[in-house]
Amino acid sequence: GTLADTTITTPDYWTRHTRNTVRYHQATQTLTTLNTTLHLELGPHPTLTPHTPHTTPTLRTNHPEPHTLTTALATAHTHGFDLDLDALLGPEREWLPDLPTYRFQRRRYWLVPRRPDASARDLGLSAPGHPLLGASVERADDGALLLTGTLDTTRHPWLADHQILGSTPLPGAAVVDLALTAGDQVGLARVEELTLHAPLLIPAAGARVLQLSVAPPAPDGSRALAVHSRAPESDEPWTHHASGVLAPPNPVPVPGPDAFGSEWPPAGAEALDVDALYAELADLGYQYGPSFQGVQAAWQRGEELFAELAQPPTADPGTDSASGAGEADGTPGVDSSPASGFALHPVLLDAALHPLVAREARRGDGGLPLPFSWSGVQLDATGADRLRVRWSISADGHAALTAVDPAGSPVLSVDSVALLPVTADQLRAGTEAVRDLYRIRWVPFATTTTTTTTTTTTATTTTATAATTATAADGLAAAAAQAGLVTIEVAPGSDAAQEALRAVQDWLADEESAAARLAFVTRGAFDAEPWSAAVWGLVRSAQSEHPDRFVLLDLPRGGGAPSPAELTAAIAAGEDQLALRDGQLVVPRLARVTPGREPSAAATSDTSATSPTGGTPSSGATPDASVRTGAATSAAGSRFDGTGTVLVTGGTGGLGRLVVRHLVARHGVRHLLLLSRRGPDAPGARELAADLAEQGAQVRFAACDAADRDALAAVIADIPAEHPLVAVLHLAGLLADGTVETLTPRHLTTTLTPKATAATNLHTLTHHHPLHTFLLFSSITATTGTPGQANYAAANAYLDALAHHRHTHHLPATSIAWGLWNPTPS
Ligand SMILES: NC(=O)c1ccc[n+]([C@@H]2O[C@H](COP(=O)([O-])OP(=O)(O)OC[C@H]3O[C@@H](n4cnc5c(N)ncnc54)[C@H](OP(=O)(O)O)[C@@H]3O)[C@@H](O)[C@H]2O)c1
Repeated sequence: GTLADTTITTPDYWTRHTRNTVRYHQATQTLTTLNTTLHLELGPHPTLTPHTPHTTPTLRTNHPEPHTLTTALATAHTHGFDLDLDALLGPEREWLPDLPTYRFQRRRYWLVPRRPDASARDLGLSAPGHPLLGASVERADDGALLLTGTLDTTRHPWLADHQILGSTPLPGAAVVDLALTAGDQVGLARVEELTLHAPLLIPAAGARVLQLSVAPPAPDGSRALAVHSRAPESDEPWTHHASGVLAPPNPVPVPGPDAFGSEWPPAGAEALDVDALYAELADLGYQYGPSFQGVQAAWQRGEELFAELAQPPTADPGTDSASGAGEADGTPGVDSSPASGFALHPVLLDAALHPLVAREARRGDGGLPLPFSWSGVQLDATGADRLRVRWSISADGHAALTAVDPAGSPVLSVDSVALLPVTADQLRAGTEAVRDLYRIRWVPFATTTTTTTTTTTTATTTTATAATTATAADGLAAAAAQAGLVTIEVAPGSDAAQEALRAVQDWLADEESAAARLAFVTRGAFDAEPWSAAVWGLVRSAQSEHPDRFVLLDLPRGGGAPSPAELTAAIAAGEDQLALRDGQLVVPRLARVTPGREPSAAATSDTSATSPTGGTPSSGATPDASVRTGAATSAAGSRFDGTGTVLVTGGTGGLGRLVVRHLVARHGVRHLLLLSRRGPDAPGARELAADLAEQGAQVRFAACDAADRDALAAVIADIPAEHPLVAVLHLAGLLADGTVETLTPRHLTTTLTPKATAATNLHTLTHHHPLHTFLLFSSITATTGTPGQANYAAANAYLDALAHHRHTHHLPATSIAWGLWNPTPS
């Protein structure tokens, strides 16, 4: 504590310095009495001196020595000490610039960072205080609640540890946690049901925007819940991942501290090897990273599984509660205000599933079991980071979960969890299938211009030989003339496509009309007159081969005509496919299917939503594609129960063989009737039957031309009553390609007969059968028109329209307009 003398250079001094108490306080007092104004610390790093005024270090750990020393000397200089600059910088110092004689102007040239995005509160939203949810907003008009967030592995690295078959799905446990959080926000502590429809795959780079919507209360107080996601700032449709129901907590008392009996591990339970468990799960395809390996110990006792779980330290610690849960609405139920912000950390709940999925995967025969539906989920305490859990598995495969903390207090109970096996393809397809599914929407033609000067054609020049009865009465002739069109009205009936082919060929052959357009006018083509729709398919292809020569116009069956000005404007705007509905012109546009918002494939009364009829200009028309969003949905939502007969025309063809295998493997179909002209003599037919028999399916063949009504009727009549006909899949079809000028009536018959005529027979002969499925294999050619396939497009357009027609009669139907299949599918 006093001024040092030469003893400071002796080992004794430093030994005492090391061993005895540092007298720093006395030292600073001494310096004060000496009226020192600056202190230099000569030591490896300042530890105590920062607390002493006017002290500057000469060395700092991890700082460049020249800089630290020069700074110390400069500090001394600014305190009035003279420095020997020659000693410091050398005598030659021309390089040293003079200081300016004016004071520094202190103008900043640094770029100012953009103001961070406004907080949820600034935007009038609330912060739910959940790590995966950034904001919530309640709708003023009906009380519905929307919670939003962004999922990515940069913000939440632990999510990347949930690897299943090479994909990174959001764990079902995380969806449960989100549902519980949503329930807490609206004062409903119980998730009555939660079904996962499609996996929410988190991209390795990029993100998914998440939406949780809670509907207004139903009369019984429950509220529907839906989970959607899509890529950020994209126009892709929202994928519907899950739906559920939130309800008030169940008054039935939850298990108390003695839930598992007084012993832990429970008496008679056999210990499972946890290291082996994770190795086995990894081999199966559940590649859980460190954040998800939460099982510490596990046991089995008959149909019960027990496990001790701990939240791995690498899991997301969550948010602190400052921004969120504390400002929840204060309603009774789950207190979601612990530090993590999760209702129950998803890694803990997911870990609870690991012994269960391993057990089910061992027993299964393909695919990895994943949870797809939960019921009766009730949370009793938040903030748990260790759990003891018990699964009780019932004979029907449902598993009930009880989870308590290490002291035995209840944390969570789940009445039932159902698992469903999925494959890697199904997991990936979960979101891709939705992205690739389109339908046609008819949208109002926007009359942005009313020009009437664009066409030069005379309306009197026509060589069309078919029923050219332009109806002056309904104003069509006037409108068409003004728009520069020659019209040909398509007479309904099975000859319509043949007549139209002739008209197209005549029109193209007539040099006088080379600058004109021929408009085919149909009536009710999309729901009432499928044969007229065939004309649309044919002419669409003709349009693709001969742009600007043909127009298609569908009018309501009861009459009506577009206004001349509007028709003219539409033609001038390049629209060559139009329909008139409710006095307004509508035009077809391809639009992505939005799962959950489309009419169902089996819709029996949803006509207005699937065709332009009915005055809903934004409604869709061909094709009416069934929305299938992955393995979970297709199997879970399957209508096949294994007892009924499924009739597949063309079942021995290329796609037919794939489809029937799929029906047996994925939908449990056990009675198949495969119909084609060659029947059992078709190549590969017997091998197919033998394969399917091994899987427990009975296959019968019928050698029959489906276009032969009597023969088909006999086949259908022969279906045994104990296995009634429940589904028809119509795949029969033939190609006979050629440009529209070279097609003969025979070419057209070749494609129409196995598709359209056969479909008509199937439609009329199955009216009195309890069908739940009537699936038509159509082609995108009918929608877009393909050069060289006018006849094939006609046949497929018929199928699309037949599906709509069946809907108008409350009959199930789906027409899938396939693109080209991969000829060697895996
Ligand atoms: N492959 C694709 O990329 C694709 C794309 C879009 C749509 N599609 C449609 O999907 C369906 C199946 O295509 P695919 O590639 O599997 O064709 P495919 O291999 O040629 O099979 C056609 C099947 O239809 C049967 N068939 C033909 N005429 C029949 C009739 N009058 N009565 C009963 N059965 C008849 C054939 O058997 P028999 O000769 O023994 O009668 C054959 O089993 C077709 O309707 C096709 O238009 C296919």
